[in-house]
Amino acid sequence: MVCLGNICRSPLAEGILQSKVNEALVYVDSAGTAAYHVGNLPDERSIAVAKQYGIDISKQQARKFTEKDFLKFDIIYAMDKSNYQHIISLATSDEDLEKVKMILNESLPDKNYSVPDPYYGGKTGFEEVYKMLNEACDSIIYNRL
Ligand code: 4NP
Repeated sequence: MVCLGNICRSPLAEGILQSKVNEALVYVDSAGTAAYHVGNLPDERSIAVAKQYGIDISKQQARKFTEKDFLKFDIIYAMDKSNYQHIISLATSDEDLEKVKMILNESLPDKNYSVPDPYYGGKTGFEEVYKMLNEACDSIIYNRL
């Protein structure tokens, strides 16, 4: 799960999908394309909205996406178009490229919609992001697992 800062959207996506699948069978992680927040905990508004739905994301720590992630993961979900472009710019093979998907295409196929960046908005934005990601994660399980 990849966004820009790895403190708002992708930590939620990681927590939501991991809560729906067995950790021993499916490993979910998240990262950011930017390094501004490396080592930081998720944004308190993401922690709060996840907690409302019984998911604890408070122990995650932001890290930067690297080329090595192409070796480690089968599918790489971008939260928005800019993250998508950044990730594919680091791909070194067709196999790498095929791993990169827009996460909302799972629930809303072929639309290439972005998960809006909630960082500069209020609490409502985080609630909306949670709902979008929850639907996308249900679709990931239905479509792929
Ligand atoms: P995220 O949100 O990409 O969903 O983690 C953001 C977090 C921080 C910033 C931008 C977006 N920032 O500019 O610091």
